[in-house]
Amino acid sequence: MVPAQAPSQRRALVTGASSGIGEATAGLLAQEGYRVALLARRESELERVRASLAHPERHVCVPCDLRDSAALIRAAAVVGERFGALDLLVQNAGHGYLARVEESRSDVLRSLVETNVVAVLDLARESLPLLRRGERPVMVLVSSIVARRGIPGQVAYAASKAALNSIGEGLRIEWASESVAVSLLDVGLTRTPFFATQPNPSGLPGPDVSGAESPERVAAKILALDRRPQPERWMSWKWRALSLVGLIAPRLSDRLLVRRMGGGWRTPER
Ligand SMILES: NC(=O)c1ccc[n+]([C@@H]2O[C@H](COP(=O)([O-])OP(=O)(O)OC[C@H]3O[C@@H](n4cnc5c(N)ncnc54)[C@H](OP(=O)(O)O)[C@@H]3O)[C@@H](O)[C@H]2O)c1
Repeated sequence: MVPAQAPSQRRALVTGASSGIGEATAGLLAQEGYRVALLARRESELERVRASLAHPERHVCVPCDLRDSAALIRAAAVVGERFGALDLLVQNAGHGYLARVEESRSDVLRSLVETNVVAVLDLARESLPLLRRGERPVMVLVSSIVARRGIPGQVAYAASKAALNSIGEGLRIEWASESVAVSLLDVGLTRTPFFATQPNPSGLPGPDVSGAESPERVAAKILALDRRPQPERWMSWKWRALSLVGLIAPRLSDRLLVRRMGGGWRTPER
């Protein structure tokens, strides 16, 4: 008997798979028949997620702190040993920092840049030999709607996502000769532990998450990008418009942003 739908044989590595968007992505990919390597720091959470997936025995947990380059290189080697190749790399791990610049700490800034930027480059380099051996290989970079419009209170975080978008644009062309597609996903406000776990030294108010997306909806976009890669996909047309306005009329963009954010921020007068 011919099965209704042959299971996908695709092999994926998802970073930040222990919670939020990464967890939802691992769940959806497993449901679609992918074999998934789940990477994050907390091994117990990775095992919890793996146990919740369709056919847990097909998937592998790769505990790793991405800020540790040697550990990252070992993690990529483990994925290579288990899967032999990669068809999809989802670079999703990241953290925020809700703080005015004057109260920011260098160690947290370093952690932010190491996790959200340096590790992405390290993992891209270490994964390329695996992606070269993959089928229709794709890398999805999970970015943010603040990547193309700096915002107060999250200056360093937005800067790290701006760097991520630049990485996506450059690598997309570097890897054209490798036939590896690179897609950026500019994610909007999503209901995950992200806001509760980010360092917030003076208790700045976080965004109102009442109208936020579900992580499952973001996971569906990631799957869609694997099936049909696009250079950049936005999850909020309003933020896309705000970013475009920022290029042409920065003062207007500032005014619109301050009005949208509330929280006592003021429009610059000079
Ligand atoms: N939630 C939103 O509104 C939103 C909006 C736009 C973009 N994003 C982006 O979406 C991505 C996922 O965030 P999320 O909302 O799902 O938040 P989350 O639930 O806090 O997930 C973050 C994930 O990253 C992992 N991680 C953090 N530091 C790591 C490190 N040094 N090494 C390895 N793994 C690390 C965490 O696992 P461990 O703690 O176990 O290491 C966790 O699995 C992030 O890149 C974020 O910037 C989120």
